[in-house]
Amino acid sequence: MTATATATATATVSGPSAVSADAPAATGSWSPGSWRTRTAAQQPDWPDPEALARVESTLAFQPPLVLPDEIMGLRGALAGVAAGEGFLLQAGDCAERFASCTEDGIRSKLRVILQVAVVLTYGSGLPVVKVGRIAGQFGKPRSRPTETVGGEELPVYRGDIVNAPEFTAEARRPDADRLLRGYQHSSAALNVLRALTLGGYADLGQAHAWNQEFVRRSAAGQRYESAADDISRALRFMTACGVDPRALSALQRIQLYTSHEALLPPYEEALTRYDERRRTWFGTSAHMLWIGDRTRDPDGAHVELLSGLGNPVGVKVGPGTTPQGLRALCERLDPDREPGRLVLITRLGAGRSADLLPPLLRAVRSAGHLPVWACDPMHGNTFVSDSGYKTRRLSDVTAEVAEFFAVHREEGTHPGGIHLELTGDDVTECLGGDLEEILDGQLGTRYETACDPRLNAVQSLELAFRVGDLLRSQHSV
Ligand code: TRP
Ligand code: MN
Repeated sequence: MTATATATATATVSGPSAVSADAPAATGSWSPGSWRTRTAAQQPDWPDPEALARVESTLAFQPPLVLPDEIMGLRGALAGVAAGEGFLLQAGDCAERFASCTEDGIRSKLRVILQVAVVLTYGSGLPVVKVGRIAGQFGKPRSRPTETVGGEELPVYRGDIVNAPEFTAEARRPDADRLLRGYQHSSAALNVLRALTLGGYADLGQAHAWNQEFVRRSAAGQRYESAADDISRALRFMTACGVDPRALSALQRIQLYTSHEALLPPYEEALTRYDERRRTWFGTSAHMLWIGDRTRDPDGAHVELLSGLGNPVGVKVGPGTTPQGLRALCERLDPDREPGRLVLITRLGAGRSADLLPPLLRAVRSAGHLPVWACDPMHGNTFVSDSGYKTRRLSDVTAEVAEFFAVHREEGTHPGGIHLELTGDDVTECLGGDLEEILDGQLGTRYETACDPRLNAVQSLELAFRVGDLLRSQHSV
């Protein structure tokens, strides 16, 4: 990684503004560009560094996608979750595609997130903090930098924000202009999401309408129908009592926060803005940013960059994480021990939590941190099926979630959230499902993911009911 001049250092914002790209004197050794002195894993080999620098300075002048007030709203909500008073739902695509950034594509993803959220809220009686892997989840870490097909070796596809998936030299060439397109697609997606979540689509009175025809035919879809019936009845009861549900905006809107993996430091740096009022830098590409299992080196560039931002920071915690390593990370990212500043997302794989999770929980707790503990039951359970598809078994996914709850109960910590890769579409990417079982031979029918296999809408609902039941039993003791 070569250190190029920081794009933001020269950017100025004229006139009064809430957030600016102007750098005040850096506190300590951190600055938005201090990551450049560290090693950044998982970076594309940008063929044209000047084009990259140009894009960085263009991005530095764009309006922020999210504002500090919203980010601090999420910080507050996560502090509540860390204290055991709520639950975090983080869900969306593994890798978003630019081409799926359409009204339909966004609406269909939001629909299943709303369904899962309402099932969790109804099942647990706890407030559910909703964070999408959406409006910016365009970059992907990969296990190898290149891919070889028929003797030809090309750079690997790293997500639409870097290159294109087709196996041609042209498509695979990292293109810095894609960072700009990533910003534009995030902005367009957020605009539709804000309109949908605030403009009536998320109204609890619409809970029936979120259940699509193909979902309704399934067992989970039927259970959802009956939960939605209960909710309608509760709303009618309120009306009968003289309380008008239409006058209560809490019933009609949700706050959907956005998140993505902060994989590309040049992009994230260009979108950091300084909040004069709070005297804090914020990443403004999304409310929450996370660090992947392959980029969480405490001395690496990604940790350096996020350590100085006021956003909530997620960290993926894989089976290779040691208690000491996790402590070092927490020290770097949460030196002030702020409840909910960190979301530690464990992805250990089914059958491994009983051994691996307790030492991690204890190491973090004894060091005085109060993170949100969330379970990603997807990434530790990925394998290639006999028919050659990268897939996951719903039974492994639910097993890991159940183990996560059991260990937290044993350790007296709060199982604070789940992190899911899902889609509202009727895809066949993950195996299983109680009644609507998808078998290996059917994976090819509608296997549409750009990266990892996602739960379809029926499988997502089935899992949501399981989690709702687990939450309820955990909280009734
Ligand atoms: N605003 C509340 C919440 O976010 C209730 C709510 C309204 C809701 N629409 C929703 C909850 C859709 C889940 C899904 O929890
Ligand atoms: Mn993934």
